[in-house]
Amino acid sequence: MEQQEPLREFSIRDNYRRMVFYQIWVRSFFDGNGDGIGDLYGVYDKLGYIRSLGADAIWLCPVYPSPNADYGYDISDYKSIHPDFGDMEQFRKVLDRTHQLGMKLIMDLVVNHTSDEHPWFKESRKGKDNPYSDYYIWRDKPNNWDSLFEGKAWEYDEMRGQYYLHIFSKKQPDLNMDNPKVREEVKSIMRFWLDMGVDGFREDVINFISKKEGLPDGLPFIPAVNGMFAYKDGPHIHEYLSEFRRVTEKYDCIQIGEGPMTTVKTALMYLTGKHRSLDMMFSFDHMMADCLFTEYIHLPFNLKKLKKAFSKWQYSLNGRAWNTLYLENHDHPRIISRYGSEKLRRESGTMLAVCYMFQQGSVFIYQGQEIGMTNIRLRDINEYKDISSKTNFWKYHLKDSLEDRMRRIHRSSRDSSRTPMQWTAAKYAGFSRVKPWFTVNPNYKRVNVASEESDPDSILNFYRRCVRLKKSSRVLTYGSYREYFPDSHEIYMYEREYWGHHWLIICSFSKHIVNVKLPKNFEGRPNELLLCNYSGERKDNMCFEPYEARVYRFL
Ligand code: GLC
Ligand code: CA
Repeated sequence: MEQQEPLREFSIRDNYRRMVFYQIWVRSFFDGNGDGIGDLYGVYDKLGYIRSLGADAIWLCPVYPSPNADYGYDISDYKSIHPDFGDMEQFRKVLDRTHQLGMKLIMDLVVNHTSDEHPWFKESRKGKDNPYSDYYIWRDKPNNWDSLFEGKAWEYDEMRGQYYLHIFSKKQPDLNMDNPKVREEVKSIMRFWLDMGVDGFREDVINFISKKEGLPDGLPFIPAVNGMFAYKDGPHIHEYLSEFRRVTEKYDCIQIGEGPMTTVKTALMYLTGKHRSLDMMFSFDHMMADCLFTEYIHLPFNLKKLKKAFSKWQYSLNGRAWNTLYLENHDHPRIISRYGSEKLRRESGTMLAVCYMFQQGSVFIYQGQEIGMTNIRLRDINEYKDISSKTNFWKYHLKDSLEDRMRRIHRSSRDSSRTPMQWTAAKYAGFSRVKPWFTVNPNYKRVNVASEESDPDSILNFYRRCVRLKKSSRVLTYGSYREYFPDSHEIYMYEREYWGHHWLIICSFSKHIVNVKLPKNFEGRPNELLLCNYSGERKDNMCFEPYEARVYRFL
């Protein structure tokens, strides 16, 4: 009874809870037309590979025209495809092929801001009597808010003679969602893609779209987030999201909100009750186990902090809402370099897969995570591409030594997740025939899809086993969650329980051998070891090797 049917023709709304999503940051995924930039031709070519992981859906990071101030998150046309990536015809091919392979496709919807090169902004700058005048947030005098990327959140515009708000870079002016015309535009963008057949949206910083009336000053706490409490979860957020929900309700689709600084309490307001306007949210608590508030401020990795974050979301959402499970995306450095060990790459990479995937929630895998890609260490700051590497990360620490600053970048830059995907040991990692737009991680000869394919014990093949196990089991899909030994600094252990079936997931975060004790209620009970990242007779030997992970079914 714990076995579940595989998905065939299916409704995403009814099934997203049991789906595995694969996230693609297109620019670095695969170059199909030989210009050094990943594109939709490349995505098309690799759909079979993605399916082979057991994925049920892909999430495409923004593929719209963009001047790339924030690599696609600064959009200059919402209803078209960036020429670097292909064209609408190629997009349709990707969409059709994805569907033929039995997968769904989710788009990124970025409507907190546009690019300053979007025609709406170009018009809005022209003056107060322009029809687009109120599409953005203009003021004669700025307040004290900070930009999350760089300096203050206001930029003076000569042409208009006023300041505009930009929570992200200067090239990303915030839309004025209080203007009903702007909301109509958002709905029209949603309909445009849904009518074409896409299956939903990942909604970028969606908890920022309604700002507090009067835009009051924030308390100057920590640079970069000053003002956040006046623009996060603003007064009209639920009203606006409900309006959008009335559009999506007419389609078989889902909405996943990205919510920086989201707490369990605020997430539940988006996900349950009369305000329910999102199906899932991306929260950030578990990405903070080696830093303080933001990834700019490092601390040593703290397992207890990680477990606390995981458990908080697991306990609080159980029976009420549904979690997203992820360890990597295009905004965070690689997880092995953070919570695991580059030296014990295979061991820690496979253990990390077990530790998050078998919790309750929908699984997300980010390109390259499944082959254990690690952080890049470039020598010069100018070799980095991402705006946030060069602004806040760099500028807030000008007083530190160059060496210290570079160490910080190596640890925290988002660029580590944006290096070209490593497909083979050939030149440029098989990502492209020509020199790619961004440096390939020099470890590509060792770390690549081809070599992982050929090794039955590789991280890649282990991910496949994990996905298969997760998807075949109702216990791992719907079961409740219970953590054991929360005070352990070495072991993360949790149980999943469903209609009297009990499974135990045990992960060692230690580089040493650790003797593991079972919880009292499991002692001496017959069990079956379903998955382990070490081979050999492991079942009853409770000495865990470095980064060993196991999944037991108790009979
Ligand atoms: C989200 C995106 C990130 C982007 C930011 C501004 O956090 O994931 O990549 O820089 O929003 O759009
Ligand atoms: Ca290309």
